[in-house]
Amino acid sequence: PHALAGRHFLKELDFTAEEFRGLIELAVELKAAKKAGTETPLLRGRNIALVFEKTSTRTRCAFEVAAADQGARTVYLDPSGSQMGHKESVKDTARVLGRMFDAIQYRGDSQANVEELAAYAGVPVYNGLTDDWHPTQLLADVMTMTEHSDKPLHGMTFAYLGDARFNMGNSYLVTGALLGMDVRIVAPRAYWPAEEIVTHARKLAEISGARITLTEHIHDGVEGADFVATDVWVSMGEPKEVWDERIGALSPYAVTMDVLRSTGNADVKFLHCLPAFHDLGTKVGREIHELHGLDSLEVTDEVFESSHSVVFDEAENRLHTIKAVLVATLA
Ligand code: CP
Ligand code: NVA
Repeated sequence: PHALAGRHFLKELDFTAEEFRGLIELAVELKAAKKAGTETPLLRGRNIALVFEKTSTRTRCAFEVAAADQGARTVYLDPSGSQMGHKESVKDTARVLGRMFDAIQYRGDSQANVEELAAYAGVPVYNGLTDDWHPTQLLADVMTMTEHSDKPLHGMTFAYLGDARFNMGNSYLVTGALLGMDVRIVAPRAYWPAEEIVTHARKLAEISGARITLTEHIHDGVEGADFVATDVWVSMGEPKEVWDERIGALSPYAVTMDVLRSTGNADVKFLHCLPAFHDLGTKVGREIHELHGLDSLEVTDEVFESSHSVVFDEAENRLHTIKAVLVATLA
């Protein structure tokens, strides 16, 4: 069995750098095998529950396709589709699902919920996004970085701009620290990750040799970056009322061509976990345009559609990395 057999995947802080890199290596092998048509299904007869209390395109599809490629079945419980949290506690749900399934994926707001599922299910539990962490996303991001750079992970410089006090900002900071990167969080101070998370990252950096910078200065923050990333300014579950404040505070931190030029790296690559707000192709986008006169928010359409952008490689890699998690923990 794999070294991670039977393990949960709840947050990046639960893994050593070697374990994290091992999952990326497995994902690279699985991607190559799928492309070559030589993939071996190692999960025949397994059943995986996909509990979603928030909506999803990539994470759900990645789990479903990864499971199917490996011969496993999935059951999708949609954001209103189970008793959990309404009529039944997380603890009871965990014990029921644990009797029927070989693993459980959970997406919702509360990290405490996914931790409680893991404590009582008796089978591996995967965090498909909470307000605090998005660990399966980080596997895909790191895999994409390795595909688009000749540098080793500990030689890469990574800058994250925008709302850094939520899942993506937290996950990027601790993962970069774990893997020894030069990590820059570039945001107004009020949008930096919580002090506790910064402390964790600094501890990891002592071991890995990572450099950690939190700064409000865009030019200093992105200078020399190999990768620039951002995320939406208002996350799932946050109220509409915060839009005004977010646009006011974060507009200077939008990823524009000027920001990419400030890196001084003609080859800089742009990452975004998606969905992204870069044009008027969505209902929310058109509403924001009407209210604020903006055509894009966290990233301009010019950057998003440019040759710097590797966002669709990143999206595809959700499949290969989530498959790696399933194979490593269940095969
Ligand atoms: N990046 C990501 O998690 O996308 P979904 O919300 O579509 O799953
Ligand atoms: N921060 C975003 C990430 C979406 C994948 C959210 O939580 O909505």
